[in-house]
Amino acid sequence: MKRRYIDIITDNIIPSNNTYFATQLTKWYQQHQRILPWRATKDPYKIWLSEIILQQTRVAQGLPYYNRFIEQYPTIYDLAAASETEVLRLWQGLGYYTRARNLHACARTVVNQFQGQFPNNYKELLTLPGIGPYTAAAIASIAFKEAVPVVDGNVYRVLSRIFNIEVPINTNKGKHIFNELAQRLIDLTAPDVYNQAIMDFGAIQCTPVKPICISCIFNTSCLAFVMGKQNQLPIKLPNIKSKKRFFHYIIIEIGDELLMSLRKEGDIWAGLYDFYLIEGDKLNEFEQLTDELVDLIKRHQLPIEKKPKLYKHMLTHRTLYALFFRVVATAAFMKEAQVLFKNSEINSFSPESIKLLPKPKLICNFLEEFVYI
Ligand code: ADE
Repeated sequence: MKRRYIDIITDNIIPSNNTYFATQLTKWYQQHQRILPWRATKDPYKIWLSEIILQQTRVAQGLPYYNRFIEQYPTIYDLAAASETEVLRLWQGLGYYTRARNLHACARTVVNQFQGQFPNNYKELLTLPGIGPYTAAAIASIAFKEAVPVVDGNVYRVLSRIFNIEVPINTNKGKHIFNELAQRLIDLTAPDVYNQAIMDFGAIQCTPVKPICISCIFNTSCLAFVMGKQNQLPIKLPNIKSKKRFFHYIIIEIGDELLMSLRKEGDIWAGLYDFYLIEGDKLNEFEQLTDELVDLIKRHQLPIEKKPKLYKHMLTHRTLYALFFRVVATAAFMKEAQVLFKNSEINSFSPESIKLLPKPKLICNFLEEFVYI
């Protein structure tokens, strides 16, 4: 049989059917595993929920979110029946709201198209909203014992070090090699245990900085440790530079209420609330902003308070810079402003109701810092 190029490469690293790595790792896991609520169950709903949250944050930060979601939505039917706003609100603070929207869409798909039962295999799981190769592998292996390896940041780190793999992990070639190697290493009889073991091993022992090599079970076989290069692996090519966006927010106060704006589809943060936004191609002072609302504020001679802090906020491919300007509205000003707002969803909210609105992290940070809520 013709051998694939990838088999030849990975054969040099580790031949098929090698069980040493899995056996050692499982032994380590039996002594060191973290006790986590989603490990005390085989319910795919709970496993799926934990995996989606853990893609966004670390275990310690994710745990309270997981508990709140399970308390509020004990079954997938409860989550599917919730409104998107409520789900976004519960997700608040984790960032990357597309994941929360997909979480909700996935619950609805499972309820409406799969009679409330998650598909029990990798291939079908992949068809669901928000479920990519990593999540499908995690659910298929942990809930249904299908032997598909998870390949996440932990796995790249552990394997690149132990086997001294210098191929960058964010290249097609790298992904191919790590996937193939992971498939060879997985314990076919207990893929659920193996996959969680390698994740815990990466999180506890083979950490990104200062890995604890001195007490590591692999410290005589880990090629990176033997060569003293554990801190240089894994290799990742630098990201393309993220684009900058410049936001000027106008906070309009009416009594103790603030005007908040529901963001539309087609840009970041759809379905979340922020303030009246003027985007520029650079940061500007209030006087320099060209905008209808700014003209109106100037015409009514309303004093402007520029908040002293420039906020810098990182998204996956964007860096946002935001300035906030505060205006106290008068009745005459509001009468004219309503005309400008007629095609937008801008309304006034009390501090109590602002607390309940789903908001981007940047806006939460601002509101907390200036004690609006
Ligand atoms: N990170 C993501 N999923 C995990 C899991 N199931 N156990 C530990 N860490 C994780």
